[in-house]
Amino acid sequence: MKVTLAGQGWSFDAAPSQTVLQAAEQAGVRLPSSCRNGTCRTCICLSTGGTVRYTVDWPGLSLDEKREGYILPCVALPTSDLLIEAPAASLR
Ligand code: FES
Repeated sequence: MKVTLAGQGWSFDAAPSQTVLQAAEQAGVRLPSSCRNGTCRTCICLSTGGTVRYTVDWPGLSLDEKREGYILPCVALPTSDLLIEAPAASLR
């Protein structure tokens, strides 16, 4: 799957078993993160295209947030190519 950062135009590949956060780090892209288990919400970002599934049953997102397209990259596995907004991302 290909993950693209809409604002920066950067993109990287994610293996099926890789979270968006892991794939970003492997590609040298630093995204905000802290707990890495879907509870602290430090990594929350808006996805404007594509789909994900979660490695945990209850990622710390409300139904409304999910509906609006917010995802938690630390526990999100892309299930299609993905477009995300991550203005705080930086290159390592
Ligand atoms: S890093 Fe804590 S929810 Fe993703």
